[in-house]
Amino acid sequence: MEFSFFLCLFCVFSFFCLLFLIRSVLKSLPSNRANLPLPPGSLGWPYIGETFQLYSQNPNVFFASKQRRYGSIFKTHILGCPCVMMSSPEAAKFVLVTRAHLFKPTFPASKERMLGKQAIFFHQGDYHTKLRKLVLRAFTPQAIKNIVPDIETIAQDSLQSWEGRLVNTFQEMKTFAFNVALLSIFGKDEVLYREDLKRCYFILEKGYNSMPVNLPGTLFHKSMKARKELSRILAKIISTRRQAKKEESHSDLLASFMGDKEGLTDDQIADNVIGVIFAARDTTASVLTWIVKYLGENPGVLDAVTEEQRSILKGKEESGEEKVLNWADTKKMPMTSRVIQETLRVASVLSFTFREAVEDVEYEAKLEMLVLLHHLTTKYRWSVVGAQNGIQYGPFALPQNGLPIRLHPNTC
Ligand code: HEM
Repeated sequence: MEFSFFLCLFCVFSFFCLLFLIRSVLKSLPSNRANLPLPPGSLGWPYIGETFQLYSQNPNVFFASKQRRYGSIFKTHILGCPCVMMSSPEAAKFVLVTRAHLFKPTFPASKERMLGKQAIFFHQGDYHTKLRKLVLRAFTPQAIKNIVPDIETIAQDSLQSWEGRLVNTFQEMKTFAFNVALLSIFGKDEVLYREDLKRCYFILEKGYNSMPVNLPGTLFHKSMKARKELSRILAKIISTRRQAKKEESHSDLLASFMGDKEGLTDDQIADNVIGVIFAARDTTASVLTWIVKYLGENPGVLDAVTEEQRSILKGKEESGEEKVLNWADTKKMPMTSRVIQETLRVASVLSFTFREAVEDVEYEAKLEMLVLLHHLTTKYRWSVVGAQNGIQYGPFALPQNGLPIRLHPNTC
């Protein structure tokens, strides 16, 4: 998880940040600031906005067509919310790093209601810090080193179940990642709840990108029902663990949440358990799917990884050690770790994330352009070198070859 934060910072090139501009915030601002112009773009249909254009096709097509038309910052309307999309490394750094305090983590309304308002993703400040500490505590080497053999069992079971079948790698990886997530949340108790949690979670996730319309028959409604059932199952698990007074003997995430001195409520625990399943599952499954693809396309790398893994088995055989993988073995996999890291870099599995502006933000005011144009026009003249009419897309529309020009001091 920690790595993902570095990923988040380092992969700003691939990030599209959605900044939700809440109307009430804009209205509360002094009138001269509220009059600041919004970037160009279109808000689409009333309420529905441009949700279908974004979600019904490869998002790159949506982004590329918007960028061609409006540039790398444009306004739109997604999942019932007016927002601004930003798609340059500089803008991502501005939102996620240099001015992070001006932007509150957020998600579209449907996701927020399904995960639960008290999940870590929607908070800043003390509550966020506390949750972050509790999550990290459950993923320290000390806490996870003993579950390596259990993860191995889940992996072996998954792979065996694929044998002789045509499988959808991503779907299978999702099941694998889900089972591992449950293991890290509930420890060995997870098998007792796996099927019930799975059934409800799979209905819930279908509604993550739905319009938040809670009417019978809608995807959102079905998902919200599954969400309520998930809360009930989680409440039961928490109460069983409390009654057994066994918290001390667990080192899983639930124990970390339940053991907090200041105390999380059952609802806070439930929202964050579901939040972690959400955070851990599709991301991990996606990376694994890309790894399978890249290894298949690069036999030399596949051979090197296989060789590295075989030498671990050979070492165990030679020393008479059991074949079960342990924590120390996972430290002998530098090549495999590099494949994972390179896949994270190349595949860029999270292509956008969301933030809500906590106050009106002026990004890249035209100041720097004005200054440049002042000097360009007053001190220089220029001539274009080579073809003058061509356009190139990369995917941004640019003059051919970036418009090579020659600049001359303006002598008149
Ligand atoms: C390789 C797979 C993963 C990737 C690529 C990934 C990526 C990310 C990114 C980019 C964020 C920041 C989102 C934002 O700020 O808008 C994030 C947050 C988070 N991730 Fe992951 N993640 C992965 C796996 C996991 C796993 C396995 C867990 C399980 C604990 C997890 C738990 C979290 C949590 C709790 C947050 C919120 C942290 C906070 O708000 O401080 N992630 N992840």
